[in-house]
Amino acid sequence: MGSIRYGLEDRVFVVTGGSRGIGLAIAAELLGQGASLAICGRKQDTLDAAMESLGGGKRAIAVSAHIARDEDVGRLFDEVMKTFGRVDALINNVGMNLLTGSVTDTEPGLWQKIMDTNLNGTFLCSRRAAKIMQSQKRGKIVTVSSVAGRKASPGMGIYGIAKAGVEMLTRVLASELAAFNIQVNAVAPAMVRTEFSKPFWSNEVIYEQVVRGIPLGRIAEPMDVVHPVLFLASDAADFITGQTLLVDGGATAV
Ligand SMILES: NC(=O)c1ccc[n+]([C@@H]2O[C@H](COP(=O)([O-])OP(=O)(O)OC[C@H]3O[C@@H](n4cnc5c(N)ncnc54)[C@H](OP(=O)(O)O)[C@@H]3O)[C@@H](O)[C@H]2O)c1
Repeated sequence: MGSIRYGLEDRVFVVTGGSRGIGLAIAAELLGQGASLAICGRKQDTLDAAMESLGGGKRAIAVSAHIARDEDVGRLFDEVMKTFGRVDALINNVGMNLLTGSVTDTEPGLWQKIMDTNLNGTFLCSRRAAKIMQSQKRGKIVTVSSVAGRKASPGMGIYGIAKAGVEMLTRVLASELAAFNIQVNAVAPAMVRTEFSKPFWSNEVIYEQVVRGIPLGRIAEPMDVVHPVLFLASDAADFITGQTLLVDGGATAV
């Protein structure tokens, strides 16, 4: 898959949560495709390690920012504009889940935390990016959702509700921003092999159980998500907007 080109040379990307996992894989591939980018995350040491592994030179910056804090998000986009002068695409990649019990047994503070990171943060970043893209009269927003937004899964109820919200946000933004030539889409992976999901895929019993429900017979690797994201962020997807592409090895098809 490494040789597929998406025509992203000299495009400017913001990849939230680009310091590890799927976001880092997206950032690495974007640099390989000739794009410039900003990554963000909360922990400076993880950002530093990511920047070292990316080796993007002047084409990459890292900004420490919590995406659920509007002042941090404002600072992130100010830095990007100061450095690169425009934003061609925003990849809303940040997401988190803390295993919860039933929704009704969950403390409001935990509900708020999961909503803040998965849904409110996606809104705050999309809002800032949209303002810039509206003045440019072009742009792409691609959000990493999850199949958990389609199917009620034990221990992932609030996360799933937030991701379902992300899918509706995608449709609403697509409709509101179409007049500005801004396309807004999402990808919804099933399990992907990252730190985030390690408690599941590293447990043989759980892994076997998960894979039984996936016709293609394996979980996703980060690159399985990177390519659909880059496609949706490219000119090849200019007539696609408001969609969520399931990246699940066929799990939701059966
Ligand atoms: N892995 C899976 O199985 C899977 C499946 C379906 C969907 N997804 C979705 O894919 C996306 C990426 O997941 P992943 O597995 O790559 O996760 P990950 O390995 O946990 O990485 C998450 C990234 O987001 C950053 N981050 C987390 N909270 C943040 C916040 N509030 N503000 C700024 N940055 C924040 C993290 O850095 P810091 O911790 O330093 O902030 C890190 O860079 C998420 O949206 C997730 O919901 C994952």
